[in-house]
Amino acid sequence: ALISMRQMLDHAAEFGYGVPAFNVNNLEQTRAIMEAAQETNSPVIMQASAGARKYAGPNFLRHMILAAIEEFPEIPVCMHQDHGTSPAICQRSIALGFSSVMMDGSLEADGKTPASYEYNVDVTRRTVEMAHACGVSVEGELGCLGSLETGEAGEEDGVGAAGKLSMDQMLTDPEEAADFVAKTGVDALAIACGTSHGAYKFTRPPTGDILAIDRIKEIHKRIPNTHLVMHGSSSVPQEWLAIINEFGGAIPETYGVPVEQIAEGIKHGVRKINIDTDLRLASTGATRRFLAENPAEFDPRKYLKAQLDAMKQICIDRYEVFGTAGNA
Ligand code: G3H
Ligand code: 13P
Ligand code: NA
Ligand code: ZN
Repeated sequence: ALISMRQMLDHAAEFGYGVPAFNVNNLEQTRAIMEAAQETNSPVIMQASAGARKYAGPNFLRHMILAAIEEFPEIPVCMHQDHGTSPAICQRSIALGFSSVMMDGSLEADGKTPASYEYNVDVTRRTVEMAHACGVSVEGELGCLGSLETGEAGEEDGVGAAGKLSMDQMLTDPEEAADFVAKTGVDALAIACGTSHGAYKFTRPPTGDILAIDRIKEIHKRIPNTHLVMHGSSSVPQEWLAIINEFGGAIPETYGVPVEQIAEGIKHGVRKINIDTDLRLASTGATRRFLAENPAEFDPRKYLKAQLDAMKQICIDRYEVFGTAGNA
């Protein structure tokens, strides 16, 4: 059944678990997520980015997610629009039938320039007003994703702020977060704590100075009733990097967010965990390996099935570690 994010995350808060929000662009990702959810009895958040809407088209995305709901009727599904850059974009998604939208007012409408606090409050508050009138949930964002190691926004995949950011911008302030939630009425708040989108988050396994889980604890202490969202939460599995590189890829050394750190965040108010890159790495690794090991094979369904199985295993792992399993 299609449910709102608010409904799903209220349950997660009551029972102390987190829900991974996986990005979807195609059939294989959608099926991988749903099969994993079915096997572990987990609720699902599927989110569509601007890039996904451009790749698949909004109608294909919508019908794919609706098909998933129809085929897996016992699994609660939240259909979420990821990183909306204006109230108008969120309004279009609401009209399409999304049960949740993200108004990312941490950046201006270009999706690149860090926005003023006043701008963020204004666009987010307007989106909440409109969305709540339709029974749709809203995620806002305060703070900009960026590397505490380099000060770079790290928008190599074209998502997020561009260029250099200050320490202040990359760590959400707890007082400002309280004011923001009071002024906007958001259902969930994405915070910045040193993660960034894509595969290149950290040059070494992250320690507390570059992945600030302590900041999450401070924010949660200040606004205990607000559902927190972690973006840029792929773990960048070393085993998948090794497979990609063994079978012809060339991805330099890089590290993601360890699942244990996310589990620690979940103990302190994190309820939605955004993951895209991990499924991309698994599907690319599985495809490279399959084609290298089966050079005479040319039926795409064969390597697409290898992708699906690889992505499904990542989803199962996250559902288990985040405590999502058993809560559908
Ligand atoms: O928000 C970041 C996600 O990884 C989506 O990326 O715009 O390339 O689909 P995308
Ligand atoms: P990753 O790039 O770490 O998977 O993050 C995805 C994300 O935050 C989508 O909004
Ligand atoms: Na989002
Ligand atoms: Zn994101």
